[in-house]
Amino acid sequence: MSVRAVVEGIGHYLPDRIVPNSEFEDSLDTTDEWIRSRSGIERRHFAADDQPTSDLAIRAARAALENANLTVDDIDGIIIATSTPDLTFPSVGTMVQKGLGMRHGFAFDVQAVCAGFIYALTTANSMIVSGQAKRLLVIGAETFSRIMDWSDRSTCVLFGDGAGALILTAQDGKGDNTDRGILASDLNSDGEYRDMLYVDGGVSTTGQSGKLRMQGNALFRQAVDKLAGTAFTVLKKVGLEDNDIDWIVPHQANIRIIAGTAKKMGIPMDRVIVTVQDHGNTSAASIPLALSVGVASGKIKRGDLLLSEAIGGGLAWGAVILRW
Ligand code: UT7
Repeated sequence: MSVRAVVEGIGHYLPDRIVPNSEFEDSLDTTDEWIRSRSGIERRHFAADDQPTSDLAIRAARAALENANLTVDDIDGIIIATSTPDLTFPSVGTMVQKGLGMRHGFAFDVQAVCAGFIYALTTANSMIVSGQAKRLLVIGAETFSRIMDWSDRSTCVLFGDGAGALILTAQDGKGDNTDRGILASDLNSDGEYRDMLYVDGGVSTTGQSGKLRMQGNALFRQAVDKLAGTAFTVLKKVGLEDNDIDWIVPHQANIRIIAGTAKKMGIPMDRVIVTVQDHGNTSAASIPLALSVGVASGKIKRGDLLLSEAIGGGLAWGAVILRW
């Protein structure tokens, strides 16, 4: 017997404002056609000016709690993946804790940019498997619209805002790969790639929050190899093969990266959850958003084997394999 971190509920929140690609045509030298064909993005949601990341996270958390039929009294702690916190400190986690009316337990943030949710899931799984927590709220929440340079057409058309949340609960399993819950994860980073995707400001440098800078094409060339690599590594850890996967639930940065990775893994696109057309790249929120949409649409069912992979600033990348 071994303890597994099993998903007990899921939910998401997207801000009301939907921005179609055509809206960028007025202010930038770009077209709907370029954005669609190069990235797969058709629209994205942007948070209201007075809507910080914690607001999105709280709404997603409430949806996940409702989905699991639980209250905050049932939760031991909150882990939030975000690179766009409301303030330098305190953590978004503690703000969500307050927003949910939770006075016990703990809350903290994890920062691994677009790979953040993979890192947060791995952290939560470690805490549950080691007996430090029985039930955790794990959230990915971002407001990347706040760090866009609106004059840079190569980045500002790609990102969106949103939040997704799930509840991980300790349950006994047999200890083999037929168990429900997180079966394995694989984390990687390499700071040599710092300049490929970064924000040009921060507390201890400029004192300003800064704007996102990306060498998109160079990152693109790294992405498929590293994502397929981490996916195969995590499968090997649990003695499974690509054919065993029911759904790839990837980070949603670019449809060409998603399709290239699936192809490298030999998995057809009808077994991949794709939301990039509707959400754009929501960084750490993209995987929980895609999971939530995949479940709500009836595609992802209990017992399905899911593989999630992500890469982003750092570079940081990784994968998680879990049975729903
Ligand atoms: O989530 C974190 C991880 N992020 C990623 O993984 C993103 C990875 N990169 C990408 O998704 C793609 O590289 C992009 C979508 C960012 C760009 O696609 P690309 O096929 O790599 O295009 P490119 O950067 O090579 O640019 C091709 C051309 C350039 O013009 P020239 O130099 O060929 O004349 C760009 O200036 O497209 C131009 N361009 C645009 N044209 C119209 C760049 N942005 C735009 C735009 N509209 N918005």
